[in-house]
Amino acid sequence: MSAQPLDVSRIKKDFPILQRTVRDGKRLVYLDSGATSQKPNAVLDAERHYYETSNAAAHRGAHQLAEESTLAYEAARAKVAAFVGAQPDEIIFTKNATESLNLIAYTFLNATTKAARGESLPDGAERFVLKPGDEIVVSEMEHHANLVPWQELCAKTGATLRWFGITEAGRLHAEEGISNLINERTKVVSLVHQSNILGTVNLLGLPFKRAREVGALCVVDACQSIPHMPVDVNNIYADQGADLVAWSGHKMLGPTGIGVLWGRREVLDSMPPFLSGGSMIETVTMQGTTFAKPPQRFEAGVPMMAQAVGLGAAVDYLNEIGMDRIAEHEHELTEYTLPRLSEIDGLTIVGPNTSADRGSTFSFVVDGIHPHDVGQVLDSHGVAVRVGHHCAWPTCQHFKIPATVRASMYLYNDFADVDALVDGVRDAQKFFGVS
Ligand SMILES: Cc1ncc(COP(=O)(O)O)c(C=O)c1O
Repeated sequence: MSAQPLDVSRIKKDFPILQRTVRDGKRLVYLDSGATSQKPNAVLDAERHYYETSNAAAHRGAHQLAEESTLAYEAARAKVAAFVGAQPDEIIFTKNATESLNLIAYTFLNATTKAARGESLPDGAERFVLKPGDEIVVSEMEHHANLVPWQELCAKTGATLRWFGITEAGRLHAEEGISNLINERTKVVSLVHQSNILGTVNLLGLPFKRAREVGALCVVDACQSIPHMPVDVNNIYADQGADLVAWSGHKMLGPTGIGVLWGRREVLDSMPPFLSGGSMIETVTMQGTTFAKPPQRFEAGVPMMAQAVGLGAAVDYLNEIGMDRIAEHEHELTEYTLPRLSEIDGLTIVGPNTSADRGSTFSFVVDGIHPHDVGQVLDSHGVAVRVGHHCAWPTCQHFKIPATVRASMYLYNDFADVDALVDGVRDAQKFFGVS
């Protein structure tokens, strides 16, 4: 049975920013949720309420405010955990997905450095020790956040970066040469779940099954999937979970400044810390330090309490609507948008042009007009899209284009927003004399 359709006009009312106009009174058509989502009143109110009533440094102090703040912070952790089918102590709060992915890469670097100096490592941490000849596998459609940290790690350890290519249809080249690409030298396979530039939802079963066979760590960049579809980290592919999953709060209606790293408990237990300082310790003397258990081991310093509370409110809001309904709604938007964009002569969709296994993110180029110029005309219509390489430059290089126009949608978008996009592109064609 298909999920009940969303009442988008009611949902839009929950987002104060969507009530404003732009560019001389134009209705704001926000199609840039892939970059960051807008925030409902429930999230704004939760942050304000926290600051007005309970603000104090969590996990520090014996006074009532500190106690309330700690409870609020940990309650947010429990909500985020339940949202992805995890246990609270498997959820680490970071600044954003970029920091979550760097945390993993630095775990490898720190373990490798400690091993080279003959220092002791947590049980099971040998899998994080790299040597020249070891390999890390990503794909050509990664966001820079899931590419550059691995490039840096390879440069520092002598490991080699390898990658899956992309098909002309914008899908992962996941079958060709897989046993050669993922082999006994592979230590990590880190892949994006839904591409931020192509919209492709990657079927991670095949590469991760092979990664398991060779004992490699399975990492998922879920920045563009967890906000848009139900995701259970223990069941992300082929009835199994990944080992580590990273995403950002601000793309799922939450505040900026908070991201998440989920880790399988035994994997987190074996990871040496990333940032060090207050609250991530067990004991400290002038001679040395022992470290707390996860998640505290990875949360050095006063945490982002208000942002966590806001993220918890975002989770409540999404749960109330239902992730299955949101996914279904975005699928309907996709089924409407693909043919509407394809009607435009001279427009080429960069990414899958069928609605199966793809989200409601649409990159395209228009013959004879630079993407930045298309973006500017759209902006003059009140339509906010992103233009550029979307921090996925190698994907643009693959398709031999300098940039794309990207419209990325969410639960608060409707068919009228798609129509405004299409009208704006046609107007750009008229303006530049290419229609
Ligand atoms: C697929 C993907 N991964 C990682 C990131 C990085 O997220 P953040 O900038 O919030 O760290 C983004 C942001 O656009 C993304 O789309």
